[in-house]
Amino acid sequence: MTEPSQAKVDMEKLVSLCRRRGFIFPSSEIYGGLSSCWDYGPLGVELKRNVKDAWWRAMVQQRDDMVGLDSSILMHHQIWQASGHVEGFSDPLVECKGCHLRFRSDELEGNKCPDCGGELTEPRMFNLMFKTFIGPVEDEASVVYLRPETAQGIFVNFENVLNTTRKRLPFGIAQVGKSFRNEVTTGNFIFRSREFEQMEIEYFVKPGTDKQWFDFWVEERVNWYVSLGIKRENLKLRPHTKEELAHYARECSDINYLFPMGWAELEGIANRGDFDLVQHANSSGKGLSYYDEEAKEHIVPYIIEPSAGVDRTFLALLCDAYDEDEAEGEKRVLLHLHPDLAPIKAAVLPLSKKEPLASFAREIYASLRQQWMVQYDDAQSIGRRYRRQDEIGTPFCVTADFESLEDKQVTIRERDSLRQIRVPIDSLKATLRAKLGGEDLFVLPDGGKIWKE
Ligand code: GAP
Repeated sequence: MTEPSQAKVDMEKLVSLCRRRGFIFPSSEIYGGLSSCWDYGPLGVELKRNVKDAWWRAMVQQRDDMVGLDSSILMHHQIWQASGHVEGFSDPLVECKGCHLRFRSDELEGNKCPDCGGELTEPRMFNLMFKTFIGPVEDEASVVYLRPETAQGIFVNFENVLNTTRKRLPFGIAQVGKSFRNEVTTGNFIFRSREFEQMEIEYFVKPGTDKQWFDFWVEERVNWYVSLGIKRENLKLRPHTKEELAHYARECSDINYLFPMGWAELEGIANRGDFDLVQHANSSGKGLSYYDEEAKEHIVPYIIEPSAGVDRTFLALLCDAYDEDEAEGEKRVLLHLHPDLAPIKAAVLPLSKKEPLASFAREIYASLRQQWMVQYDDAQSIGRRYRRQDEIGTPFCVTADFESLEDKQVTIRERDSLRQIRVPIDSLKATLRAKLGGEDLFVLPDGGKIWKE
């Protein structure tokens, strides 16, 4: 549910920037588009990959209590029976008898069509899972579903992971991947789509310690967003009331973000208790438990689940990073993206297209490209080229001028402060590495100097 409030940036500006600069395109556009499906363009795919890499680094690589998994999207149909999705993963759908638009009745105020004021049908439950068939025969026995969450792939691999990694409680299994939901109401750009990506952790703990771990993960996950530059005041926790808890949850809290359309869910953190392991043990006939060496008994762990959306994180990062100001006497749009997330880390800009400056700058470009996503741009004025890089969030521009041919030095310009330093080419890579890692621009390498305060 969206709670109205005032955000700094409006959605139209973001959608237009994403379209114009190749972050996101409507899916199947040349055929008129496909409702609520989106394609990530050349810059979008970089930013999205950086988001997933940042999550994996912090949640898997840097923790010794976490391992990764990549389970299949198509899974045994019994999984969705046991999980409760076949029975209960539904939204109440109503249709306007006049204009035939469809809505979720639980999101409507009043009992009239919000579009034309017409009379609505009685609500009927609509299952959100996409159904298809495995193999050549389209009958009930071959029904499979596109997964609506990555979580179930983790639960059904619990024993495989336990046996192959010898992890002790508490430990987690992390997974990033596509999920699909035939949402009744979509919209707000990539906020709610029918095909999206999730970054999910299932964290297995001893019963009795679940409350402590739930609180731990709520804080940990808020801190992760803040570490990537999202302003704390744009994040808010929304604990679920008893009445709205999902069928599997004992406790749940959303991390809400102040999106352009208001406060809305960015991530959900749930205490799922032993619901999933018990359900799958009963349904499969396999005992899914953990042998507790201290107590000398088998226990069924409780599960804490921080479940984040890649696309919503992408959108929140763009909203938070978007800014308009004035630079070098001109209005500019800029994205204050964290260097780890910026699609392009540096742009190499020769002051002229002429030789030998062009070859000199291209050599720098070739060298930096070995390590980072870097762009080369020699078209139009230097001011226009800076603006283009600011607008896509490139943290640093490296400018080569005719003096560079003599003194073998280049200028580095910082996106946010507009400060510039001049450094020897020999130390360019090391300097960029340090600055991308957060070092102040005015910490100079040997032979470097401040160019513009
Ligand atoms: N396994 C638990 C689970 O899937 P959820 O609250 O339904 O919980 C978790 O989904 C996250 O997945 C949400 O917080 C959101 O970021 C993302 N998400 C869910 N449905 C989405 C949709 N239709 N489009 C984009 N992201 C979605």
